[in-house]
This record gives sequence, C-alpha cells and structure tokens, in this order.
Amino acid sequence: MLVSAKEMLTKAKEGKYAVGQFNINNLEWTKAVLLTAQENNSPVILGVSEGAAKYMCGFNTVTAMVKGMIDTLKITVPVALHLDHGTYEGAKQAIADGFSSIMFDGSHYGIEENIEKTKEIVALCATQGLSVEAEVGSIGGEEDGVIGAGEVADPNECKQIADLGVDMLAAGIGNIHGVYPENWTGLSFDTLDAIQQLTGKMPLVLHGGTGIPEDMIAKAISLGVSKINVNTECQLSFAAATRKYVEEGKDLKGKGFDPRKLLNPGFEAIKATVKEKMELFGSVNKA
Ligand code: 13P
Repeated sequence: MLVSAKEMLTKAKEGKYAVGQFNINNLEWTKAVLLTAQENNSPVILGVSEGAAKYMCGFNTVTAMVKGMIDTLKITVPVALHLDHGTYEGAKQAIADGFSSIMFDGSHYGIEENIEKTKEIVALCATQGLSVEAEVGSIGGEEDGVIGAGEVADPNECKQIADLGVDMLAAGIGNIHGVYPENWTGLSFDTLDAIQQLTGKMPLVLHGGTGIPEDMIAKAISLGVSKINVNTECQLSFAAATRKYVEEGKDLKGKGFDPRKLLNPGFEAIKATVKEKMELFGSVNKA
C-alpha cells in the first residue's frame, strides 16, 4: 500500500534523521529502491519527475508498476509515491493517477502566484489525504530541461508558504541538482537555520543530495532537514557498473547480452548507493 509522506517525515523530524527520496527511471530502478528499503527496514519516498513519468508511459503506468511490486515483493515498509517538481497541471494528473504525495514547484513564480497555486494544490490534496511539498527559492542545476541558478530562499517567504498547510518545504540554500562544480561554496546553514527558526516543526527538504559531503548532510539534518532527494548519484552508479560489464566484454560471453544479465550490475549498484544513503541519513530500522 502507498502512504502519504506526512507521518514518516513527522517521525523523521522528531527523531533527527532524514528519509531519502530516490528518483526512479524504470523497472530496475524501482525494484532496486523498494528492495533496499525493505532489506534495511527503512521508510522510502519514490520520486518521479514529469519527464520520468512521461518516459515510463504516464503516472498511471508508474502507479500500477509500484503497487504491483509492493504486492509481489512483499514490501511492508512505508512507501510514498511522490511527484518531483510538479507543475500545476502535472500535479493534477498525478493526483488523478494515484500518487500518494505531490510536490508543487512554484518557485519560478513570484511569491504571490506561488502562494495562490500552492494553496489550490494543498486544498486538492487535502480531500484525498495526500502530502504536499512546496518550494521557495529555486534549486540550481538542470532538471527536465529547466535550469535554476541555485538561489538562497528568503526565510520570511518560506514561513508564508509553510503556513499554507503544506507537509514539507523545499528551500534553496545553495544546493543544486546534479554534480556540484569545483567552485561550489557549500550549503548556506545560516539560511537553513533562519528557515527552521521560523517554520518550527515543518519537515524541510534538501534537494540535490548527490555529492553533498557527509558532514554537511549531518549538519543539515541537525537543522531540521527530514527529507533528502537523490537522483544523479544512482544514475552515475548505474552507468559505471553497466560500463564495466560491457568494457569487460561480458555482454559478448554466453548469454551475457540478455537484458536481465546486462542490467544486473547496474541494478546492484543502485542498491548499494541507496543503502549507503539510508545509512548516512539515519533512516535504517525506522520503518
Ligand atoms: P540530485 O540529482 O542532485 O541528486 O538531486 C535530486 C533531486 O533533488 C530531485 O528533486
């Protein structure tokens, strides 16, 4: 069964750990994340961007696949199926197609429009018990072709959005999607602290989890971050393992070309990355 992310994140905030959101791209990804969560007795959030949903033939296909796997693989840990960086229209579609948690990213609008649109999504989700994530201050880097500069959010605007009844809040604190550049100056902990002071119990979300050093992750969690998104790191692990398999010529030996064999090293690599993150975030045995 899919659950909203509300309860798992409230518990994480209280317990001073974070739940990982791992973005999924296909069947192997989904199976790897679900099995790793179960093996580590950890709650988990499956992130699906609109681009990834389109690639996987729509939100309805994703929901059916995830529900089928939860059943067949006997997954009993809490699993939330979450729209990542949803547009207004995308959010409505994901709600209609059975997602259990929605991010509406209105960070590229002015604050008034972000407030208005977030309010509507909160009202829609409330009728169905779905959790809502909102965003203030765009996250840098590229996601589905949208490039953000890595803004630092205004804590007062964060407070305004937090008060709309959202369940979790993503705020730009110098984090970016993808690999961090050499000259990255790190997370703005002063901003994070100011946001936490104003938003109190609200679970905060750290996007761009790939490549953030362990000490910064620990500090972010100590300052109220309860959900950390990881996408690129699983892609890099998958690609490296697949590359190794091919470069070693294993696809040319026997039935090594069988997709179930060819994709297996990448699958195992995603599992290892997800396990490492769950340990780092402190969500192991918190299901
Ligand atoms: P990374 O790809 O940098 O891990 O970021 C993931 C993310 O924040 C998804 O919303």
